[in-house]
Amino acid sequence: MPRITSFASTKGGVGKTSLVMALATELRRREKTVLLLDCDPNRHLAEWARRRRDSGVAVMEEITETNVRQTVQENAPRYDYTLIDLAGFGNLTMLYAFSVSDGVLIPTQQSFMDIKETVRTFKVVADSVGVLKHTPASSVVIVRTQAAIESRVDRHARSLLSEHGVPTFQTELIERALLKEMTYTGHGPGEVNPDSNADLNVRALADEFVSFLAEASPNPLVARG
Ligand SMILES: Nc1ncnc2c1ncn2[C@@H]1O[C@H](COP(=O)(O)OP(=O)(O)OP(=O)(O)O)[C@@H](O)[C@H]1O
Ligand SMILES: [Mg+2]
Repeated sequence: MPRITSFASTKGGVGKTSLVMALATELRRREKTVLLLDCDPNRHLAEWARRRRDSGVAVMEEITETNVRQTVQENAPRYDYTLIDLAGFGNLTMLYAFSVSDGVLIPTQQSFMDIKETVRTFKVVADSVGVLKHTPASSVVIVRTQAAIESRVDRHARSLLSEHGVPTFQTELIERALLKEMTYTGHGPGEVNPDSNADLNVRALADEFVSFLAEASPNPLVARG
């Protein structure tokens, strides 16, 4: 079944676009088709998708509040996964994107300030989706962590999130050179260096992403065949 996910964060530069790219490359390895919606006027994601030269990854840019719903409704049913890379937070594009999504992922970094703000973001998302016809499932993903081992800062971050009842992916996206390289080449860790630590990380994240969506109820505003 085609699935639609929005990627949002209050802060800029958290790692939304990198998360979208990493998931897209791994979904392609699983022979899934991917539609990327680039809501950022800087169009980094759209340019990246073109560098990738992959007929299984379509990208639509200049997505704004005026066209996001229609774009999803008309195009998402033709792809296995639609990933919506949002530009800012608290704007109408974001709300309209949520209104046609099955899931919302909020990437966060790990400091106290980051987590505090992410908790606030999550609550705004939870509130705003209350006014929509369909409430997408939402979860936080901790990104740009330093190592695979569970550190003290990680425990702090997770306990603050859980104190506030914020659901969080078990898998984190670790800071990796292969993920920076991906932004140049269009190819993910699994395509460049299969079975590397970065590949294993992205695969685990994609597994969790797929199960998150499997549990999320389909948004009735998007027709599926
Ligand atoms: N897991 C990672 N490993 C290495 N570098 C990363 C990782 N995640 C993000 N980065 C780097 O962090 C920077 C910001 O990432 P990115 O552009 O994905 O964030 P963003 O949330 O989309 O930013 P914006 O709000 O400007 O759209 C980039 O330099 C990117 O290469
Ligand atoms: Mg971005």
